Parts: sequence; C-alpha cells; structure tokens
Amino acid sequence: MPAPLAHLSQLPERKRSGPPLAVLTAYDYPTARLLDEAGVDLILVGDSLGMVVLGLPDTTGVTLEMMLHHTAAVRRAVKRAPVIADLPFRSYETPEQALASARRLMDVGADAVKLEGGIGFIPQVKAIVQAGIPFVGHIGMLPQSVREEGGYKKKGKTPEQGQQLLADARALDEAGAVAMVLESIVPDIAHDITQAVRASTIGIGAGRGTDGQVLVTHDLVGAFPWFRPPFAQARADVAAETRRATQDFVRETQGEAIG
Ligand code: KIV
Repeated sequence: MPAPLAHLSQLPERKRSGPPLAVLTAYDYPTARLLDEAGVDLILVGDSLGMVVLGLPDTTGVTLEMMLHHTAAVRRAVKRAPVIADLPFRSYETPEQALASARRLMDVGADAVKLEGGIGFIPQVKAIVQAGIPFVGHIGMLPQSVREEGGYKKKGKTPEQGQQLLADARALDEAGAVAMVLESIVPDIAHDITQAVRASTIGIGAGRGTDGQVLVTHDLVGAFPWFRPPFAQARADVAAETRRATQDFVRETQGEAIG
C-alpha cells in the first residue's frame, strides 16, 4: 500500500500521480484514531454529524459549537491524517463571519475548513484563504440546502447545470481551494471538473473519475442501519454486532446461558 497522506501540501502530487485519495468522516476520538491508524488519507469532521451521531433530521441543525466540540475530539486522536472540519449552516453568511468561524475550527485543531457553495461564496472563500487557512470546497448536492431544494437531488443532469458546476469549480479553484468535494454529480461532469481544476476533487456519489472518494464512516461500517445512500457499500455490520453483543449482555445479566 502506498504511504497515506500526511500533509495537505502532498495533495498536488497525489492528484498528478495517484493513487486516489481515500477519505472518511469521524466525529469522535476512537473512530478518528482507528481511521488514522488504518491509513485513511484525510479525515473529515463532517456536519453529517447531525444525522448519524446526533439524530437530527438533516445538517441544518448543526451549530458551530457542536462542530468545535467534535473537531477537538478528533484532533486529540489523529497523529497523521490531515483533519478537515465543516463550517456548519449559517456560520459563513458574510466573509467576516466565515473567517471568524474558520479561525475557531482551526484553533481546536482543524488543518482545513470546508463550506458548501460555489460562485456565490467566493468572498467568504477568499477571506479564509487570504488568512492562510487551507480551504476545501463542496459543490453539487449541498445537504445544508436540502430544505430549500426539497430533497437530495443528483446534480449536473442538464447541460446548464453541468456548465454551472464547472464554473463553480473553476471559481473555487481560482480562489485557492486545495480540494473540493463533488457530491451527487453525474460522473461525466465530475470527471470534467477533475480535469479542469488544480485542486483535488473528492467524490461522493459522483462516479470514479475524481481524485478521491469520501464516505460517511457510519455508512461504510453499517453503523446507521436506518438509512444508507445507494452509492455507499457497507463493508461491515456494526449495527448487527452491537445488537448481538447487547442481547448477549442482557441475557447473561438476567441469568440465561448464552448459546
Ligand atoms: O458532512 C459530511 O459528511 C460531508 C460529506 C458527505 C462529504 O460533507
């Protein structure tokens, strides 16, 4: 296995020479430590936290205080992999607010921050980048906009949407993004964006033509059995093991022999 990423400055070389980046989410100390030790390239403290850990209906209820709490826990665990932290909903409405929120995430140990949006957020991105904070973009399906959009929808299906996504990606690239998440984008458009930008593209539900792949770890290990997106293949069944161990413990505690 090639050496996993140890610093964000290695991203351009990985984009040139491969292998693709393997990126997973973590929100707590043990998971982050296991992912780091197992050789994941980047760890994302995603605001998916709201759904898979906190039981919220979507990511719009996640606050900056929640992100700070979980980013600090991940930082305590991770020795090698760069840690990216999400700027949550309504924490980057102006360039000043975006920079102040990004600084707080960096102060608790993030190596980079990510926000959702393209051309409309370039002033925020520039404020972050010009302050020397590594920035990761996120375009395509934007979970923080799910209420406005009325659901999670594939992006790039029409030529107009494809052109808009390319323009967003180029604008983020020009503004200095080191990487960008391409979420639920049709594979041909995700591939075209990957060819068009210097930043590393990290796909989720966007085909194989990106510079890397990201998954929510709970989907990968089967720890959130009530919902898993169709593109996420579960490679373990943590939910079943947790139920089995719990039932064993309940039976043993209540005096029944374990079969
Ligand atoms: O919040 C998150 O986990 C994310 C990934 C789905 C990319 O943004």
